[in-house]
Amino acid sequence: MSVEKPPVEICKGVHGLDKVVLREVRGSSAEVYLYGGHVTSWRNDHGEELLFLSTKADFKPPKAIRGGIPICFPQFGSHGNLDQHGFARNRFWSIDTNPPPFPTVSINKAFIDLIFKPSEEDLKIWPHSYEFRLRITLGPGGDLMLTSRIRNIDAKPFSFTFAYHTYLSVSDISEVRVEGLETLDFLDNLKAKERFTEQGDAITFESEVDKIYLATPTKIAIIDHEKKRTFVLRKDGLPDAVVWNPWEKKAKSMADFGDDDYKHMLCVEAAAVEKAITLKPGEEWKGRLELSAVPSSYRSGQLDPQRVLQG
Ligand code: BG6
Repeated sequence: MSVEKPPVEICKGVHGLDKVVLREVRGSSAEVYLYGGHVTSWRNDHGEELLFLSTKADFKPPKAIRGGIPICFPQFGSHGNLDQHGFARNRFWSIDTNPPPFPTVSINKAFIDLIFKPSEEDLKIWPHSYEFRLRITLGPGGDLMLTSRIRNIDAKPFSFTFAYHTYLSVSDISEVRVEGLETLDFLDNLKAKERFTEQGDAITFESEVDKIYLATPTKIAIIDHEKKRTFVLRKDGLPDAVVWNPWEKKAKSMADFGDDDYKHMLCVEAAAVEKAITLKPGEEWKGRLELSAVPSSYRSGQLDPQRVLQG
């Protein structure tokens, strides 16, 4: 007799770190580490992993886990005086047992609420008081949703930048294209953050890329030709989109990244970077990411971008 697994299970992961497993009745699942408030796995109802996790990910605090969805807060990248990507990804989060209600009710969905509050040590490096609540939800169709709510509980305003640093798993980076970012302006991290304008074609990859696309649409499609799979990324409250692949040389220089791992990943990160978000005392900001994976409408060399972008 098989015992049905619960929709939300709190258990131990790598190195005994606390982990939450979300399961949806049709078989999709997600795994979240309290370390970093970090989603490390998202599987569809065939059990296929949809997020990239480095073959050398070491799950050893204080280092961030390489892969999945690290949270970059209160600073994206090197856009400020803090360490790269801030510190939320290197802190232990807690389960939030009594979060303030959401306007929409999560019926028929497996979800977990996490909270991160700064410690005395954190306040020394970034002297602002806040509550960062993160709800991670697995929808009935296997969609993965992350909602961040950051509330200023300080007496002064503060500003921050942010990203859901999503590592998508792809079959072969050379077979991937991104639609929705054509013709947009971007800051090129490989050229001292200089501003350029993307040309008209969908974006494909043949070398290192590290770009912050500005004022992006709420929907971006990442098409994996070989897998015939399209990731649809929807976002709210996050105007920018970072696209990153370290390619061969940089991959070799990263201790927690396999030499060939760059072939099987692409980061497309819903972000707020160019314009920092400012919260007055008592104000709350909300930033949402929704990911779905659907079969590509790819037939004999022809994609139908309209279908991809409307679906
Ligand atoms: C990306 C940045 O978001 O993250 C890159 O745009 C950076 O510049 C990459 O190299 C990885 O960062 P980290 O700190 O996780 O090695």
